[in-house]
Amino acid sequence: MLETVHVDLPGRAYDVHIGPGLLQEAGTRIAPLGGRKKVCVVTDRNVAALHLETLRNGLSAADIDMAVLELPPGEATKSWPYLTQAVEWLLDQKVERGDIVIAFGGGVIGDLVGFAAAILRRGVRFVQIPTSLLAQVDSSVGGKTGINAPQGKNLIGAFHQPSLVLADTAVLGTMNARDFLAGYGEVVKYGLLGAADFFDWLEVQGPALAAGDMTARVEAVRRSVQMKADIVIRDETEQGDRALLNLGHTFGHALEAATGYSDRLLHGEGVSIGCALAFELSARIGLCAQEDPSRVRAHLKAMGMKTDLSDIEGELPDAQGLIDLMGQDKKVVKGQLNFILAHSIGAAFVTSDVPLHAVSETLSDALAARR
Ligand code: GLY
Repeated sequence: MLETVHVDLPGRAYDVHIGPGLLQEAGTRIAPLGGRKKVCVVTDRNVAALHLETLRNGLSAADIDMAVLELPPGEATKSWPYLTQAVEWLLDQKVERGDIVIAFGGGVIGDLVGFAAAILRRGVRFVQIPTSLLAQVDSSVGGKTGINAPQGKNLIGAFHQPSLVLADTAVLGTMNARDFLAGYGEVVKYGLLGAADFFDWLEVQGPALAAGDMTARVEAVRRSVQMKADIVIRDETEQGDRALLNLGHTFGHALEAATGYSDRLLHGEGVSIGCALAFELSARIGLCAQEDPSRVRAHLKAMGMKTDLSDIEGELPDAQGLIDLMGQDKKVVKGQLNFILAHSIGAAFVTSDVPLHAVSETLSDALAARR
């Protein structure tokens, strides 16, 4: 049940292996990269408690030793203090240019450790071993690394491609349902942005996938990663097409900011609601049929995902307040808000040509539905 997606970037090509049991094979997968028989693993305490021994055994099967730094779980770790800690720890471990650093965890660990690897000795190699669905289908692939700033998410960072990604889908079995479904928001995003047939497949297979069907999980991760790889190969540094991957993120980031990047709304939940709003907006300005947002929302709801603003507890700013928060987003270009809208399910495009009153009306209607 092992699948491989090749990310064919010139001079920086790498494989993403996907399937159950890859932690046990980590040593034999990493050994061909060469370097010393010792790797530095940065992880978080939750992942360490669940999976570190399996990784240790997998590495030692190929005579690879590991040193481990455990950081606290949670978004607050994606910040200067923990970047400093990770970089200084890696220097203390005497990591050399040819060595391998391993990011073992979800999106927070992947982004932080990838950035540490990017700046350490002007760039050392790193391997992503993503342990959440979100990290397996999105953040571990494509080389975006970084930390958050008080001014906004992911504002400090670098493009630094991993040398290998091992997406062990058996590990997803230890995720709680809320985190899993938040990651599924990113899976749905791929169908919505560029593959109507994948969205059709998810409508049918989504419930089995959520219930633990391994074949469906591997296929969903493979398809998502293949779509991401194709886009990243075309546009590594987001001059154009890569922005499609931000479908749902302009709304989603504003909602995350409005909820203080807290447990009130996980990133993938913001993406899920954001995708629904992007389709509402697309229909409102006549870009897609009214049935499309209804179908998007029906699938998200059927999966038990956060879909509407009424699924967010507590106060939210008014429409103008949310639009102001969108203005903080790093996708703002020359002061213009960029949106990813759609002509239909599977046909998204990037535009800055969106009437603000339509955005405002979309948000006002969504807010009114909360009352
Ligand atoms: N997560 C969006 C990207 O990698 O471009």
